Amino acid sequence: MTSEIAPHLLAWYDRHHRSLPWRVTPADRAAGVVNDPYAVWLSEIMLQQTTVKAVRPYYERFLERWPTVTELASAEDEDVMRLWAGLGYYSRARNLIACARTVAGDHGGRFPETAEGLSKLPGIGPYTAAAIAAIAFDESVAVVDGNVERVFTRLYAIDTPLPKAKTEIKARVSEALPKTRAGDFAQALMDLGATICTPRSPACAICPLLEDCEAGGAGNPEAFPVKPPK
Ligand code: ADE
Repeated sequence: MTSEIAPHLLAWYDRHHRSLPWRVTPADRAAGVVNDPYAVWLSEIMLQQTTVKAVRPYYERFLERWPTVTELASAEDEDVMRLWAGLGYYSRARNLIACARTVAGDHGGRFPETAEGLSKLPGIGPYTAAAIAAIAFDESVAVVDGNVERVFTRLYAIDTPLPKAKTEIKARVSEALPKTRAGDFAQALMDLGATICTPRSPACAICPLLEDCEAGGAGNPEAFPVKPPK
């Protein structure tokens, strides 16, 4: 049986996605707007340890001040650190500068277009590399964070404890990937995990994946993911 997860999720995302400044929606795309890899990278670095709400104003200020990666690469370190002040985890800001200079200096101002290439840049680990590759370049890669682990352990009632379950989760996400719209798929999972498939009291009654979900069907979603034994 082919998985219906992607079509169900993408149809829901088209109607219910959170409107966030770094997102290009299908309607935008139809109007000819394309994703700017620099903006996607900037948002993903800021979102690494910080909430969407806190990131929003910083993201806007950075893009206004340095609209391209080449401009950011030429910025004074102190100016970048000053605009970052308040976001925390300052090694991210130092890596941000280093990454911008590498992209401007060694890659002609263009970000590598695969998760593999992106993961060689300063400050970009495997998760962030996958997120940027999917969102900015539509690479068909699994983007797995804690939200996605929760959603997928519930979908398949995976009772192996974390972190051991990670291999199976990644395989399940990979087989559910759509042929196109990898970035929308990744961001739809983020939204589902943030708004419906929440850690406690998930809203299964309005979930677009209820009919695909073992734990939802059995009425015990909160049993997943299984925590590692102490
Ligand atoms: N967290 C990390 N990346 C995100 C994104 N693109 N949208 C919403 N939340 C996120």
